[in-house]
Amino acid sequence: MDSLPFAQRVGIVTGGSRGIGGAITTLLAEDGATVAVLGLPEDRERAHRLASLLNGAASRLHFYETDVAVYNRCQEAVAAVLREHGRIDFLVNNAGITRDHTVRKMTVEEWEAVLRVNLSGPFFMIKAVLDTMIQQEYGRIVNISSVVGEAGNFGQANYAAAKAGLIGLTKTVALEVAKRGITVNAVAPGFIDTDMTRAMPLAAIENAIEQTPGQRLGRPEEVAEVVRFLLDERSGYITGAVYNINGGWYM
Ligand SMILES: NC(=O)c1ccc[n+]([C@@H]2O[C@H](COP(=O)([O-])OP(=O)(O)OC[C@H]3O[C@@H](n4cnc5c(N)ncnc54)[C@H](O)[C@@H]3O)[C@@H](O)[C@H]2O)c1
Repeated sequence: MDSLPFAQRVGIVTGGSRGIGGAITTLLAEDGATVAVLGLPEDRERAHRLASLLNGAASRLHFYETDVAVYNRCQEAVAAVLREHGRIDFLVNNAGITRDHTVRKMTVEEWEAVLRVNLSGPFFMIKAVLDTMIQQEYGRIVNISSVVGEAGNFGQANYAAAKAGLIGLTKTVALEVAKRGITVNAVAPGFIDTDMTRAMPLAAIENAIEQTPGQRLGRPEEVAEVVRFLLDERSGYITGAVYNINGGWYM
């Protein structure tokens, strides 16, 4: 097991029980990492099912029920991971939601809910892990932004603002901790085949595929591979970067 690239590494994937987060959890656990999956109550069962599917790595996945939109919950989860596993080498801020409407129809609650989970959540989690990573003089943080944060998208002002904000957060934290052995990067996926995309109207999905030069949706595993690369110890000179993974939809 020690020959695996992430052996002895411990980290957190928020929303890591399904979709893109599930693919990231799977790759990292199969590569030897101990992965703390943070999620909502409904994610618990899914996390256990995911663990049972892991190739000999089931014991490396641990579920912590945590709403990332609440700072105290983030602090408690980080404290529990530290208590139980001793260190935190990586953090993947993946949990995210959509509440789509045009600005004219979007309620203040829909605006605030998306900003809270998709932007405040990553800030809370980064704030909660940073002292530990500084003490370790080592850390890898990857934020899952979106092509929508770069290009905008009809009916997604809240989501686009949060994902654009996440890029600003990424670059700023990257600057602040660059001397501490910690890298902070973002990935900006295009349309990826997950439950989140399946909730879109069929016409919108067909339209996204048509407008993608690659002419298909991306796969969660294709995002996970890039995240794994950025989390690798050997990627220490990449920080403040945004990696597009969008089949050419936005260049
Ligand atoms: N699917 C896409 O096309 C796409 C494209 C670009 C970016 N993204 C981003 O990638 C990430 C994962 O997307 P996905 O498509 O796999 O989504 P998904 O809806 O399949 O999974 C999201 C996970 O996050 C969890 N979650 C939601 N709110 C939470 C909270 N408050 N606290 C803890 N966990 C919470 C959900 O329960 C779920 O397990 C999101 O940040 C999303 O915005 C997705």
